[in-house]
Amino acid sequence: MKRFIKLTALVLSVLMLLPAVPAVFAETADPADSQLRFNEDGTFKIMLFADPQDDEDLEETTTALMCEALDKYKPDLVIYLGDNTVADGYENQRKAIEAVTKPVVDRNIPYSIVFGNHDEEHNVSKEELLAIYQTLGNCLTYDAVPELSGCGNCNHPIYSSDGSKIAFNLWLIDSGMYYYDRSVSYYDIVHEDQLAWYKATAASLAEQNGGEPVPAMDFQHIVIPEIFDEIYVEMPFAMGDLTQERNGKIYSSLPVFTRLNGYWLEVPCPPDIYDGQLDVWKETGDVIAEFHGHDHNNSYQVNIDGIDVINVPSCGCNSYSKDVSRGCGLITLHEDDPENYDYQLIRMYDLALCSGSAISDAEGGRSKVYYALVKAADTLVQTIFFLFRPFYKLFPEGLI
Ligand SMILES: [Fe+2]
Repeated sequence: MKRFIKLTALVLSVLMLLPAVPAVFAETADPADSQLRFNEDGTFKIMLFADPQDDEDLEETTTALMCEALDKYKPDLVIYLGDNTVADGYENQRKAIEAVTKPVVDRNIPYSIVFGNHDEEHNVSKEELLAIYQTLGNCLTYDAVPELSGCGNCNHPIYSSDGSKIAFNLWLIDSGMYYYDRSVSYYDIVHEDQLAWYKATAASLAEQNGGEPVPAMDFQHIVIPEIFDEIYVEMPFAMGDLTQERNGKIYSSLPVFTRLNGYWLEVPCPPDIYDGQLDVWKETGDVIAEFHGHDHNNSYQVNIDGIDVINVPSCGCNSYSKDVSRGCGLITLHEDDPENYDYQLIRMYDLALCSGSAISDAEGGRSKVYYALVKAADTLVQTIFFLFRPFYKLFPEGLI
């Protein structure tokens, strides 16, 4: 009964907040300036920068990577996937935000951000950080309902090329920092109030779309916990280093490599409990893909219950990264077939090997020969994975 009362109170409070959702759009000074729209050729390109995780002295190779990727692929929107800046104190954070957004702002490209687990660890709140982003220009992020868990939960509709309707939708969700009870989960979850807001807003968008869900993608820093069910084998009992425990289950320590399209170079770090986010996506039916950062070295792409789950590797090297996966993501949406989008991992070594690249000469950069060797090694490993992929179905989902 208590649970029913709590749920009813939650639903009522979200319904009371609902009028605030369209008001956010109404408050935009000139909606035409910030309205995202498919291009006349029916495409819309989104570039993803994950985990630059740097201070006011942004690594030169990171700046070069961003500039060269932006110039080569010319995205319509950039999304920063969290752990964007880690400078100490307000003034340094302001300078760090200025540095990490400069390549995008200089090219007059709109961008949006989500926060990671590290952005707020440096004596500046997420609300203050968001205000800095918003004053630097080109930032589309807003806090749709400030009362919700986290900061910067919002959505960005993309209109059809003729501007007549919302053709696609982007969800930006704050996946939090650390769970309040570390004995239950180390990392935070996406909370019930955020999921209720998502469901209510998605329902409102579907209503404007003749009752059909508007196809959408989700962007957040931390992966959903179901990643463990997808890439590891559930085991009947613990076997020391051969197994690991998560979500109250025992899994193999090594993933089923043929289930991964891309690299698994570290154990993913989702929350240790199920938070229901995947279930509400499936129930709502709009989300076709989720993109996250957080695990800097991973570049896997998997499909969980019909939803693509993609780890975008770090674009920076101030924290940690591996040159075989370091880079950024590029999504190309197609207005006439929104569910069949293209995703490309733009690797730093490929950019470095382009003529005129500044990456090798940047402080911390390596020689072109080095990047050519990394490319050769990566190509060999990816070819082996590709050859094994047809045997995906031979591997069991779990041993129990
Ligand atoms: Fe990070």
